[in-house]
Amino acid sequence: MISPPFRLGVISALQHEQHGLIDLMQDRQPVTRAMREYITGKLWGVDCVCVLSRVGKVAAAATVATLIERFGVTHIVFTGVAGSADADVRVGDIVVADALVQHDMDATPLFPRFEVPLTGQSHFASDIHLTNRLAKAASDFMDRDLRELVAVPDIEAFRLHQPRVHRGLIASGDEFIDCRNKLAGLKQALPPLLAVEMEGAAVAQVCFEFGVPFAVVRTVSDAANEDAPVDFMQFIDRVAARYAFGIVKRLCEDSAPH
Ligand code: ADE
Repeated sequence: MISPPFRLGVISALQHEQHGLIDLMQDRQPVTRAMREYITGKLWGVDCVCVLSRVGKVAAAATVATLIERFGVTHIVFTGVAGSADADVRVGDIVVADALVQHDMDATPLFPRFEVPLTGQSHFASDIHLTNRLAKAASDFMDRDLRELVAVPDIEAFRLHQPRVHRGLIASGDEFIDCRNKLAGLKQALPPLLAVEMEGAAVAQVCFEFGVPFAVVRTVSDAANEDAPVDFMQFIDRVAARYAFGIVKRLCEDSAPH
């Protein structure tokens, strides 16, 4: 349990990524602000605000700032999909971020590559406590709920055999990576990199600047190579949305006031 005040912001980028969560919210109240629908209510007894950020760093940053300033969230969790950036990380695995970097930030020669000017840092650490809880929720989901929440034909179709939970570095940029050479260049510049996506590091920077604890969890949807767009939307709907639902459920059950 997390001691109050606790209001959790739950963000995902795309339409289907919060499938199931919103329908289940109690005392649901939608509020439209700056082209986003923020839905306040309770999930498994926890005060939550759910929102779809849309895609990319600017969209994510604007959404997070609104969640904090207007909706008063005290903690933020981002759930979504990512491309693998490591041979050990397979489609269907989960990556929980320990730190995030903006891979397209490059103000050289004024600042080192990846450093966000005037923050003095390139790697933004996620909140250790929330990240530990999220990683536990992800592991428990994998061990106990996955086979209940993801349909057997989809487990077969997407070959979700013995998926694993990883923790480490995630990189974000305003580009869908579907080219193995581009990925290899990023991996060379950031050897510990586990996954690539398009929002997490923007969430991390804004939360750092506001002093709000955050965590990021990503289901691996592709290998960030030329095959990446194949079945992408189907994967989100049939697999990633179920993962996000199961993980947020376990996180909330663990956080609810008793
Ligand atoms: N999200 C899911 N897969 C991705 C990829 N290959 N590049 C960027 N963002 C992603």
